[in-house]
Amino acid sequence: MSRIAVAFHSGADDPVAWGAALRAALPELDWRVSPDGLGDPAAIQAAMVWKPPPGFFAPMTNLRLVVNLGAGVDSLVGRDDLPAVPIARLNDQGMVQLMTSYVVFAVTRYARDIHHFERAQRRGAWEYRHPRALSEVRVGVLGLGELGGPAAAALAGMGYAVTGWSRSPKAIPGMRWEGSLDAVLAGSEILVALVPLTPATRGLLGARELALLPQGAKLINACRGAVVQEAALLAALRSGRVAEATLDVFDTEPLPTGHPFWAMENVLITPHLASITVPESAAQDVAESIRRVLRGEPPLHAVDATRGY
Ligand code: GLV
Repeated sequence: MSRIAVAFHSGADDPVAWGAALRAALPELDWRVSPDGLGDPAAIQAAMVWKPPPGFFAPMTNLRLVVNLGAGVDSLVGRDDLPAVPIARLNDQGMVQLMTSYVVFAVTRYARDIHHFERAQRRGAWEYRHPRALSEVRVGVLGLGELGGPAAAALAGMGYAVTGWSRSPKAIPGMRWEGSLDAVLAGSEILVALVPLTPATRGLLGARELALLPQGAKLINACRGAVVQEAALLAALRSGRVAEATLDVFDTEPLPTGHPFWAMENVLITPHLASITVPESAAQDVAESIRRVLRGEPPLHAVDATRGY
């Protein structure tokens, strides 16, 4: 059995869990964990990475595949030292389920006024708010890809009035697709951002766009901080145009101490974990991608570096 050398670099993922999961799907695995266990870089055929250091790929002269340990490839495709090999991203059911659960939680927290009851409880106040039918709650989902699509489908399945926005039309049962961003914004009392970060979506939501939202709208950002212009969001949260925000992602992560978001009662902050990759459910795809590229075929979930996702 000839061995297949795979390099691993991540500050956020567990190399032991990934090695075990990948070996179960790829018994010929020769697992090499960066920085100390890479061995002879010329032997490495595939690299699994999350934000590797500059120059990481240069000595890997026989590299055939880069696997991004995550759904968003913005930090990878923006590099100027990317090797000319196929790039795959992860897209597994575990990740989809985690993102869907986050979005359903965050939307439902607003739709059922839980954010209000959290504050009322802190004041010791019994403040009844009559629940609204979910079919009256208008939710806009920006981005209907591998993560946005299932999240929109889950919300629609629960009975929310969901409008989805994406580059090309998408049919999702119970969801209305809309091609005009402005129209989605104007009709969304809860807006969920799940677009990939690309040159086309950087700063997508600025002061003009946030002003199109209905007064008192709620924003959920679970994609990338840079999709929303932070100064515009702060201003909108202060003016009440955006009444509430649930933010998992930020321009600078970790969110710096003293950042104004920390002190805002109308902002719920989670530390970039809306969705993470689950090795056990993703390793099969990674093994399959490695086998495919070694046969000269494209990997699964190939990234189009020019498109940016
Ligand atoms: C996490 O942010 C990811 O892109 O998977």
